[in-house]
Amino acid sequence: MSALGWPGRRRGTHGGRARSAESSSRGLGWPADGTEAAVRSAPEPAVTTPVEEPFDEASVPDPPAAEPPAAELATAAPAGEEPPALLGEVLPTAAVPPEVAPAPYDPSVLEPADRLRAILRDDAGATAEEDLPIGKQAAAAVRATSPRGREPFPRPPSRRVITVANQKGGVGKTTTTVNLAAALALHGAKVLVIDLDPQGNCSTGLGVPHTVGTPDVYDVLIEQVPIADVVQPADGIDDLWVVPATIDLAGAEIELVSVVARESRLKRAVEAYCAGPGADVDYVLVDCPPSLGLLTVNAMVATTEVLIPIQCEYYALEGLGQLLKNIDLVQQHLNPQVHVSTILLTMYDARTKLADQVAEEVRTHFGDTVLSTRIPRSVRVSEAPGYGQSVVTYDPVSRGALAYVEAARELAVRGSA
Ligand SMILES: Nc1ncnc2c1ncn2[C@@H]1O[C@H](COP(=O)(O)OP(=O)(O)O)[C@@H](O)[C@H]1O
Ligand SMILES: [Mg+2]
Repeated sequence: MSALGWPGRRRGTHGGRARSAESSSRGLGWPADGTEAAVRSAPEPAVTTPVEEPFDEASVPDPPAAEPPAAELATAAPAGEEPPALLGEVLPTAAVPPEVAPAPYDPSVLEPADRLRAILRDDAGATAEEDLPIGKQAAAAVRATSPRGREPFPRPPSRRVITVANQKGGVGKTTTTVNLAAALALHGAKVLVIDLDPQGNCSTGLGVPHTVGTPDVYDVLIEQVPIADVVQPADGIDDLWVVPATIDLAGAEIELVSVVARESRLKRAVEAYCAGPGADVDYVLVDCPPSLGLLTVNAMVATTEVLIPIQCEYYALEGLGQLLKNIDLVQQHLNPQVHVSTILLTMYDARTKLADQVAEEVRTHFGDTVLSTRIPRSVRVSEAPGYGQSVVTYDPVSRGALAYVEAARELAVRGSA
């Protein structure tokens, strides 16, 4: 693999879908036709564009009169009064009221890692997220980089099969799959990742070869090759295994149409693997292509949980109704257990109001399904795949890595109850 992800092969055919004209005119991109109850009841979001005031010279206040120099101040006291001394002498340290003095550091109040967690969550101020004090970063670094400092996440009582889906391209499906898988595996879980996107970005991100000719998920779906024969260990992370995707998978969408049990090929393969060599797998994560075709349907049939990454951007919610409708259809006809278990806000930019509006809107509609950890937009996150790594291993103390570890922890804790 060359740097910057030039794969030396043509790209898959699954580019982002064109936006529908009727929905693009609405607030944050909620579909106009309202295909899902929660979506249908969405109020018109109040997106207000700040109107710039025309410049009015008359409204500019006069500049304040220049302050007299300190020496003049000292002598400018009314006659008969003691002239004030310079500032330091007037306010001796003892005069600082006790409530203003900083509270002494008490480590029993909040562990550094817990404080970091609070910062990465919604309830902390957005500005705090921007500047992590160096002490907190150092504490987090120790935990993130030293295996002894890594407390294992709770393991699920039974295997969790999670599909990461959103038919919009570029919302962070692959990045989320790669980094949650890496974080879970680094914290004691055994994880199988299935790359179901012909672009093979997930395979790249986990350092797994996926050039043409590599046995891949196409062979599993079309040729019914066992997963055990195509699975590869992720580069540099124990207990993380990957079923890669090559460009061959681009044809599978059409080839699947005419095969027997076309919607449940993946389900059967995963069940067979988990009944044999993969018996101790805790999590199976499936990275979907940006479409709602047969590959995504196979993923929905194979799993119980759907995780939807939502980008904190203007069109983030467009098409979500269609995705939810499809999940409903699969639930009714093919897999009664499938449901949206988790929503993760990605590419959150604390500097924009829009990111907050999207986050608020999503929380209003999906409530507790939304993880409280948001993934910040971070250059480190986008650099990591160029090195065939997750950001969690590439730069474990970057904000993006810490946020993904937190999101993985939340996912694990929620599923352990
Ligand atoms: N938190 C983030 N900060 C910065 N860039 C990101 C972040 N998450 C994803 N990206 C970048 O955005 C692009 C699309 O992400 P990707 O995970 O491939 O989306 P999808 O799989 O939904 O198409 C990639 O170039 C990725 O590196
Ligand atoms: Mg992807």
